[in-house]
Amino acid sequence: MTERAEVRIDGKAFAERVRARVAEQVAVLRGRHGIVPGLAVVLVGDDPASEIYVRNKGKQTEAAGMQSLQIRLPADTDEATLLAAVNDLNGDRRVNGILVQLPLPSQIDTERVIAAIDPAKDVDGFHPINVGRLMSGGEALVPCTPLGCMMMLQDRLGDLGGLEAVVVGRSNIVGKPMAALLLKANCTVTVAHSRTRDLPGVCRRADILVAATGRPEMIRGDWIKPGAMVIDVGINRIAGADGKNRLVGDVAYAEAVEVAGGITPVPGGVGPMTIACLLQNTLTATCRQHGIDPADLGAGSG
Ligand code: GUN
Repeated sequence: MTERAEVRIDGKAFAERVRARVAEQVAVLRGRHGIVPGLAVVLVGDDPASEIYVRNKGKQTEAAGMQSLQIRLPADTDEATLLAAVNDLNGDRRVNGILVQLPLPSQIDTERVIAAIDPAKDVDGFHPINVGRLMSGGEALVPCTPLGCMMMLQDRLGDLGGLEAVVVGRSNIVGKPMAALLLKANCTVTVAHSRTRDLPGVCRRADILVAATGRPEMIRGDWIKPGAMVIDVGINRIAGADGKNRLVGDVAYAEAVEVAGGITPVPGGVGPMTIACLLQNTLTATCRQHGIDPADLGAGSG
């Protein structure tokens, strides 16, 4: 049991530590520099899942001592109105981070909206400037979910240099930035996807396996190299045997936990890290905007 508990990576506890560290640094920033980081979240429409995310983000932002601003626009908002709202936030000195909740209604061109966000305030790391900086090794704001995955991997493994990493999934939000971060950390990186031949064989090579396919429990226990670190980014709602819905990842957890050296569960793995990393990115963005080195904000920073 103890051994199994060590294999399971507790993302909830990890996220709490990240949030506590951010809160400490925010307190120093306020005390020493009189700066209170501000995060603006824009929600268009009333999608219930997005509502919950946005509410949670607001609560956690305030709990970290930051200012939370929420802009709610009706579902029939046109693109020009949303672009004007983003532009206002770009010019608002109280706002250090801007997140436009996705997905957006179909009348709005998501890429145009993302491109309108000031890259220095792009705490999602979705702006083409930040994507380019991540690829070329510059000072990027990095998408929250892959950032959280890297924190957990480095916490368990330390230096990742030379390890074989396989990322299954090639989305702009997870797969591609994850691959870029692993490459930056000197892993040998393979990006696998729905057209990959012999996917089980490719996965079996991995010292680090990151699953971001959106297919419930697709990755089986016998696809995993014994001792590998498995990061499951999937969140899939499926009908359980009792007829109730349950959440599962992209990895068949019960099988994988018997083989892996470390594995993130769903729920309670990667999920809680995403908002914690959003707070981290808001702090990072604030510091950069003010020319402050986050390492000067106290113990455990960076
Ligand atoms: N919707 C679901 N996840 C995300 C995210 O990470 N960022 C944004 N902007 N919208 C989302």
